[in-house]
Amino acid sequence: MNAISPEGHAFCHPLREGEFAAGRQESVSPERLPTILVLDSLDINRRLLRAMLKTAPYRLIEARRATEALTILDREPVDLLILDLMMPEMSGADFCKAMKSSKKTQFTPILMLTSVQGIENEIVSIASGADEFLTKPLHPEVVRTRIRAMLRNKAAIDSLEEAESILFTLAQAVEKRDKYTGDHCERLAFYGVSLGRALGLGKGHLSALHRGGYLHDIGKVSVPDAILFKKGALTEAEWVIMRSHTTKGEEICKPMKSLASVLPIIRSHHERWDGSGYPDGLAGEEIPLLARILQIVDIYDALTTARPYKPALTHQEAQALLEEEVRRNWRDPELVPLFFECCSGLIPRPENSLGSSSIRESLERMNAQLLG
Ligand SMILES: [Fe+2]
Repeated sequence: MNAISPEGHAFCHPLREGEFAAGRQESVSPERLPTILVLDSLDINRRLLRAMLKTAPYRLIEARRATEALTILDREPVDLLILDLMMPEMSGADFCKAMKSSKKTQFTPILMLTSVQGIENEIVSIASGADEFLTKPLHPEVVRTRIRAMLRNKAAIDSLEEAESILFTLAQAVEKRDKYTGDHCERLAFYGVSLGRALGLGKGHLSALHRGGYLHDIGKVSVPDAILFKKGALTEAEWVIMRSHTTKGEEICKPMKSLASVLPIIRSHHERWDGSGYPDGLAGEEIPLLARILQIVDIYDALTTARPYKPALTHQEAQALLEEEVRRNWRDPELVPLFFECCSGLIPRPENSLGSSSIRESLERMNAQLLG
């Protein structure tokens, strides 16, 4: 592997691990500086990158080996990784794949460098998950501009994640208002994903079910305790407020584009198969499939959890009650039996199982809506 061309830049004082380049931003605290990890087995390449970034407000960490870099990535948050396509222990492409398949590092941007000319290297790099690619010799200003752009995107992703995590915290706070529900959200996420898997749903839909388990009742933040925990029957006016948690929840999550696939769950998880539910009175397959799935696991969990006004039903009792609701034409007649089939050992059906043609059509409709 060739060293990066110095392009006439003198080598600067090397930065040791944990140090940061002060440059123009001396007053900025080190904790707030974006962290860049440089993985390269050659000292000269790392030194050159240091020189290029010496006036930039970044904290640089260096690793000579893939294993060393993995330890650093595991230990602390890294905002950008710069690595060489050709490494002695593990190829840069394999390292990218490992990072992108890990939940912890999947959104860490990767800038791949190579000294080997040829479009095939760029294709291999991008295909393995690298976000940007530069061929040596490197121009310092190009490197700095590219890094700035990548860190800008990373900051945008971070703020989105932060906004999303605020919503999840809010949803859990809403749930915790009712001290009897325990880990209701976690269980719903688990059951929902299990049923989705049994149907052979893809990653995106399973992720929506997982998130829906937490966010489906977020609109209850706008329902007063006096209504939410009222011991007697609700008046019609109180029911109007209670029912509004579906549309309020949708309003709260709508501004987040990343939650688009969860919105139908939030809005429609109280619809009934015969059209007598709320808020829209949707019937049968008009009810979004993910909302139907979440609804079944929500009811099952509510039935099998003890509340001050009722004991927990056994699994068999809950099954009998849900089957009765299918006979009343309130619940999806195909999904309820499938859920109990899954519950008996929670054994997922084969990956390609998508239930009946009506479920397949629901899925296609859902995909079309999401894409549209
Ligand atoms: Fe609800």
